Amino acid sequence: MSRYLVTGGAGYVGSHVVAALLGRGDAVTVIDDLSTGHRAAVLPGARLIVADLADGAAVEAAFAAARPEAVLHFAARSLVGESMRDPLGYLADNAGNGIALIRACIRHGVGRFVLSSTAALFGAPSAAPIDEDAPIAPASPYGESKWMLERALAWAGRVHGLRYAALRYFNAAGADPAGRLGEDHDPETHLIPLAIDAALGRRPPLGIFGTDYPTPDGTCIRDYVHVSDLAEAHLLALARLEQASVTYNLGSATGHSVRAVIEAVGRAAGRPVPVEAKPRRAGDPACLIAGCARIRADTGWTPRLPSLDAIVETALAWRLAHPGGYGRAKGV
Ligand code: UFG
Repeated sequence: MSRYLVTGGAGYVGSHVVAALLGRGDAVTVIDDLSTGHRAAVLPGARLIVADLADGAAVEAAFAAARPEAVLHFAARSLVGESMRDPLGYLADNAGNGIALIRACIRHGVGRFVLSSTAALFGAPSAAPIDEDAPIAPASPYGESKWMLERALAWAGRVHGLRYAALRYFNAAGADPAGRLGEDHDPETHLIPLAIDAALGRRPPLGIFGTDYPTPDGTCIRDYVHVSDLAEAHLLALARLEQASVTYNLGSATGHSVRAVIEAVGRAAGRPVPVEAKPRRAGDPACLIAGCARIRADTGWTPRLPSLDAIVETALAWRLAHPGGYGRAKGV
């Protein structure tokens, strides 16, 4: 049994990683301010400390309570569009809190750190698949803030010997196959939950943001990776840290267009997704597909649920069972 401190463990990806850690018998302490996370997403067995990462005393108390062997850092603001309206807020919150957390690790002698990073630091790449050495060119303060943390970790590694894993997610999707956890953002901006709710008649028709991209059907191509497969990758990355720091791109290494996702949701729901064509959304690259050869070679990781239909089915099952998400009130 190992002890972990997980920031943002009440959020979408964080909660699935907590589930994976608990599933193998680890002791997990979550620190989350529940501003976007949900109390109900922290499975029984984990300890939840409700606090903001900007609260230095609370972070100290969390380290003292958890006595972690490693810290996994998910807590962040993660809306690309919002980051374009509040760039300095994003840099201050994401990079500032993250750097303070890395410093706390060094103070407390915690030698391993896992960062929830993003494909958004590649900007609009010209080639696919995108491997770890592709040019870094964040097109948003959100992506920039994650890149700043990757750089901070590189220096913490070089100067202080901290071992770190920077895990760059492409499009996290789906829900816990056991039905305990799902995706519940407010506001929801992600394609799959919006398409599901449109198919179920719970939302207006889905807007397709751009039908004139240079792709076979004119809509953007993304690499959807099941959130439980992402969780598994975190466990493998933690083990890999015994040898060295690592940076991995995480996706299914397959691209699906917005229209292909809409068709998959229609198949799963048994009724078509009502749609309407909309203009392009600012900042959306035409095609993002992960090159995942590095993590595969190092750890043997490969998604267990690579098919888009399987991903969509788990997402649909959770939304059918939780029509209001985790609960409408904040902090639930
Ligand atoms: N889309 C629509 N209509 C919608 C919502 C989305 O057409 O109502 C399209 C988008 O334009 C995009 C695709 O569906 O082409 C996927 O959009 P998402 O918002 O679900 O996901 P993104 O690819 O924009 O963003 C994801 C993560 C971000 C991360 C980014 C990395 O959610 O956190 O990948 O590029 F920064």
